[in-house]
Amino acid sequence: MEIERIQLQQHGDDRGMLISLEQDLNVPFEIRRVYYLFSTKCGVHRGMHAHRNLNQLAVTVRGSVTFLIDDGRGPCEVVLNDPSQGLLLRRMVWREMYDFTEDCVLMVLADQLYDPADYITDYALFLQEVGTAYLDDMAACSGRR
Ligand code: TYD
Repeated sequence: MEIERIQLQQHGDDRGMLISLEQDLNVPFEIRRVYYLFSTKCGVHRGMHAHRNLNQLAVTVRGSVTFLIDDGRGPCEVVLNDPSQGLLLRRMVWREMYDFTEDCVLMVLADQLYDPADYITDYALFLQEVGTAYLDDMAACSGRR
């Protein structure tokens, strides 16, 4: 699958660095929620779900984490360890996070409020739903022709 990294402009001077995240500029959606993971215990795996209608941008403000992402066509590993890089996680992408460093602060911007009903936590169901989504997209495309 295509890995969508967003390079965030750094405003640095002799005092240090600053990065600004702005809706529809370097964040390609309306920002309705921000949350962050920290103090993650050694060996923990998080995520293990997809979202039906949620787009997110993940940034490691500090430390490092490995993402496994899968749009239904096979998994791909991405190491996120640079506060000037965002990883775009679109809807209907299975994600798992592991190998958190002790100091990791993983910030996530999201375009929807928290909704447990939006989660798919069963990988087999995800594959079934993502297959249906592709078919729906193809039908919409051929309808436009
Ligand atoms: P969870 O979705 O299990 O985290 P992850 O999938 O990243 O491992 O969320 C952990 C807890 O936090 C769970 O009780 C739900 C709650 N939560 C919120 O209340 N709001 C949020 O925006 C998120 C992401 C989680």
